[in-house]
Amino acid sequence: MTTIRRAIPDDAASLAAFGARTFRETFEVDNSPDDVALYLETTYAPALQSAELRHPGIVTLLAEDGRRLAAYAQLREGPAPECVGGPAPIEIWRFYVDRDWQGRGVAHALMLETLEAGIARGARTAWLSVWERNLRAQAFYRKCGFEDRGAREFILGRDRQTDRVMVRLL
Ligand SMILES: CC(C)(COP(=O)(O)OP(=O)(O)OC[C@H]1O[C@@H](n2cnc3c(N)ncnc32)[C@H](O)[C@@H]1OP(=O)(O)O)[C@@H](O)C(=O)NCCC(=O)NCCS
Repeated sequence: MTTIRRAIPDDAASLAAFGARTFRETFEVDNSPDDVALYLETTYAPALQSAELRHPGIVTLLAEDGRRLAAYAQLREGPAPECVGGPAPIEIWRFYVDRDWQGRGVAHALMLETLEAGIARGARTAWLSVWERNLRAQAFYRKCGFEDRGAREFILGRDRQTDRVMVRLL
C-alpha cells in the first residue's frame, strides 16, 4: 500500500537520489552512458531539488510505501508549446514510478492526485512530453485520457531527441 503526500524541502536529498535512479533505470538501456551521465549531473542534486521544492510554480507529489519512495510527480506552471492548445495549461513535468511498483496501480493513483493538484491551481488543461520511444509511458498516459498533439525537441546530454506532446482537458 502506498500513500501520497505533498513533498516538503526536507525531501530534497531523497528526491534527488530517487529521481536520478529512476531516470537512469528508465533510459540507460537505450541511450549512451555519456549522455545520461551529463543529463543526470545537471538535473538531479539535493540543491537542485531543494530549489524545485521551494519554487512557487512547482508542485511535487510523493507516493510512499511506509517511508520509502515508490513514485513522484511534479507539476510545473509556465508557457506551453503551441500544439497544446487548451485553456489554462499546466505541465506534468516529471512522472516516475519505481520499477518494483510499476503495473500495480500506483501510477494511476498518483496521476489522479496530480490532476487534482492541477485543478486546485486553476489549470484546465494538463500536458506533458514523453520520449517517442517510451511506449509504456505513452500507453499509460493514453489510459489516463491524454492524446498525442504534436512533437518537440528534447536534449539528452548531447543527443537531440523527439518527444511526443500529450494533452488532456481537466
Ligand atoms: C510510465 C509509468 C508511470 C506507467 O506506470 P505503470 O504502473 O507502469 O503503468 P501501467 O502498468 O498501469 O500501464 C502501462 C501500460 O503500458 C503497457 N506496456 C507495458 N510495457 C509496454 C511496452 N514495452 N510497450 C507498450 N506498452 C507497454 C502495459 O501493458 C500497460 O497497459 P495495459 O494496462 O493496457 O496492459 C511507469 O512505467 C514508469 O514510471 N516508468 C518509468 C519512468 C517513465 O517512463 N516515466 C515517464 C516519463 S515521461
